[in-house]
Amino acid sequence: MLDALSAPPSQNITIRREDYRPPDWLVSEVHLDFQLYPDATTVLATLTMARNGEHDRPIRLLGDGLTAQTVLVDGEECSDWSMDKADLIIPATGDAHRIETRVKINPAANTQLMGLYVSGGNFCTQCEAEGFRRITFFPDRPDVLSRYSVRMEADKAEYPVLLSNGNCTASGDGDKGRHWAEWSDPFPKPSYLFALVAGNLSANRDVFTTMSGKQVDLAIWVAEDDLSKTGHAMQALKDSMAWDEKVYGREYDLSEFHIVAVADFNFGAMENKSLNIFNSRYVLADPDIATDFDYNNISGIVAHEYFHNWSGNRITCRDWFQLSLKEGFTVYRDQCFTEDHASRAVKRIEDVRQLRSIQFPEDASPLAHPVRPESYMEISNFYTSTIYNKGAELIRMMHTLAGPERFRKGTDLYFDRHDGQAATCEDFVVAMEEGAGLDLSQFRLWYSQSGTPRVSANLSHDASSGTATLNLSQAIPETPGQKHKQPMAIPISFALLDRTTGAHSGSQLHVLKQEHETISFSGFSAPPILSINRGFAAPITIDTPRRQDELAFLSAHDDDPFARYEAMQQLMLATLLEHASTGQADHAPVIEAVRKTLSDPALDSALIAEAVLMPSDAFVGDQMVVVDPDAIRRASVALQKDLATALDNAWRAAQHAPNDGAFELTPAAMGKRRLRTVALGYIMASGANDAGKIALAQYESATNMTDRDGALRALAGSKAAERQAALDNFYARYEANPLVLDKWFMCQALAARDDTPKLIETLKAHPAFTLTNPNRVRALYTSFGSNQWAFHTASGKGYALMAELIIELDAINPQTAARLVTPLGRFKRYDAGRQALAKAQLERILATPNLSKDVFEQVSKSLG
Ligand code: TRP
Ligand code: ZN
Repeated sequence: MLDALSAPPSQNITIRREDYRPPDWLVSEVHLDFQLYPDATTVLATLTMARNGEHDRPIRLLGDGLTAQTVLVDGEECSDWSMDKADLIIPATGDAHRIETRVKINPAANTQLMGLYVSGGNFCTQCEAEGFRRITFFPDRPDVLSRYSVRMEADKAEYPVLLSNGNCTASGDGDKGRHWAEWSDPFPKPSYLFALVAGNLSANRDVFTTMSGKQVDLAIWVAEDDLSKTGHAMQALKDSMAWDEKVYGREYDLSEFHIVAVADFNFGAMENKSLNIFNSRYVLADPDIATDFDYNNISGIVAHEYFHNWSGNRITCRDWFQLSLKEGFTVYRDQCFTEDHASRAVKRIEDVRQLRSIQFPEDASPLAHPVRPESYMEISNFYTSTIYNKGAELIRMMHTLAGPERFRKGTDLYFDRHDGQAATCEDFVVAMEEGAGLDLSQFRLWYSQSGTPRVSANLSHDASSGTATLNLSQAIPETPGQKHKQPMAIPISFALLDRTTGAHSGSQLHVLKQEHETISFSGFSAPPILSINRGFAAPITIDTPRRQDELAFLSAHDDDPFARYEAMQQLMLATLLEHASTGQADHAPVIEAVRKTLSDPALDSALIAEAVLMPSDAFVGDQMVVVDPDAIRRASVALQKDLATALDNAWRAAQHAPNDGAFELTPAAMGKRRLRTVALGYIMASGANDAGKIALAQYESATNMTDRDGALRALAGSKAAERQAALDNFYARYEANPLVLDKWFMCQALAARDDTPKLIETLKAHPAFTLTNPNRVRALYTSFGSNQWAFHTASGKGYALMAELIIELDAINPQTAARLVTPLGRFKRYDAGRQALAKAQLERILATPNLSKDVFEQVSKSLG
């Protein structure tokens, strides 16, 4: 699959799960001493090392771009160390040694944002997965657990705040305006959880009293001007601490907990022990700068990182193939936290939408991999939706199979048994089997087989015997390296609804285990309607022949809110696919179903807004053998326009609903705002003369960012005369706030306009665009890559723009560059013309000299 000659040999090293061996040497204690200067920081490391098992191998300390200035073994200068590529090799004769190394690094020049770097003038670190080796030589792997103590010294005026993991044990002033602090973390941890921050920061402080009555001092550190924007994150932190006690019985284990916000960050946030570091976009919020979506992301990510203290830190991963052990479980935990604090149904719908728009396509792409992968070249490329979101679905299925009480017994056993260890996915499954009393032998295939299972469900009815028969069968598509699949254990949740009243005798759970199974039900004088995969109990696609009128019925009568939403989606999807393949479709059933939903007094606004929102072009495309982006767009525009005109009054009423009173983050208030902007989208699509004016009025009169950003997005995607004025106004108004300016780039990159590719080119040259800030890059290019119609424009301009950007960014930040390969990697799903154009751009990237391992892996696998 990979051509060994197409990249330098050092980049082609594939790491395999089956090759796992315990570490040769363990490190019980680490002492780190930092002399912090932006362009020349000295790091002195003292490691207390012990030989692990019977062997005579030397000490190998991994490094990345480091040069040892001195190496001491047991206090003596060592003269026979050597380098093996980037690693330091120290011959060792005894079973225990004290190793001291000194290196000099340049944080100010670290644009990769891995290791120790400078962001907004402050020092910070990012070590997961393999950044610690860019700070000091170390056995940088998650199964080496050590006790850390840290001393750091920095200029006191520039960097008044000095933080690391654990507790501050001492601090004081040094010479020449410098000061120092010492920190010590009593919990042994892997190197990827190490963190250090030195900067000019202010704290929002609070306290939390744990269930056993211990006081924990909380602090959220930001630039002083941003202090007023930290209240929501602080509330989320306290709620998370209480929730983990209540739901999992897990208490916080130190007396301090810190969150630091930084502007330049490769991901969302990082769970370093007691010193979480966050992308500032997931900390800072007030009604003028943050949308409801931002608020929800903040609480979800604060919860996620906090929950890692148990699912990740107290119990970590043995190796990076086990990444989903901590990420899948922690995503599941943060999803449940949000379900408990907001609208459960809407949260589930949003999570499924995300799974379908990112993970399903990934699972059907050349980059598909199992939740527990078998091999990788660059581990950063495996922080994927499959590991995170499909991994969370696996845990959710175990919860469904066990029920809440037994599931809790399983997690209790897991936490008790593996506390303080580096564990595997298998350890979790075994604990769940024993604790919950489940047989998960066949279920384990969910960890090893990639690809989204397709289940077909056919319901037939025999009037003479009053029997309904459900025929189920499963198929798992072929994925890279996995030609033949075994049938999986798939929990299928369903109900058989009376076709006039919608009544049924309860949801049933059936675990489909064979390739084909048949279940019969008696007592049905009339054929029932099948409601299936209720609550989205399994991450699968369902093929089930249901007529439009049956879907319309379910969209109005199903008592499972997810199934009700799903019926509407399937109805819209079928209509769009029909139009995409034949150029026309009957829109009347969708219009009727939407009309009913809009006027159903039993539904809240948030659920209505989700239900009446059309499936994205990308989701429609994912259902087609050959994606036709132009036909999909035509189908979407046609359906949207018919819905808009037929229901004009209803949209205007929903859009016009006044903002009553103060800004509130309740599900009801958020639902109303969501429906307002969804309605505005339809008003714009109607082509009414006053549509642009209505959007501009929403923009101008907005008292919060949700309404303002919603209006801006609607205008940015339109040809309305008011479009440019709104964009210019937004730019002028928020020029000084980078997080808000990202929205200005984003809404233009997401615009379904024929000139979007050209606009991307213009915006890339805009003075506010920069390659050194990942948020800005993602705002423009990740958004563009998700804009199916614009990105896949037949000329290939989208592909060329993305390739150019990837090549340029790879020299600065390979991790972020590699993530932009994904949309190009989907080329095989398109027609021959687009395929050739996209392939040429991937080959152009591959031909670039000095390509990073990150980008090399993604591009070469995409070309497959
Ligand atoms: N463990 C982090 C999380 O999910 C992920 C993360 C943050 C990360 N920064 C990273 C992963 C940098 C790889 C590289 O919460
Ligand atoms: Zn995580």
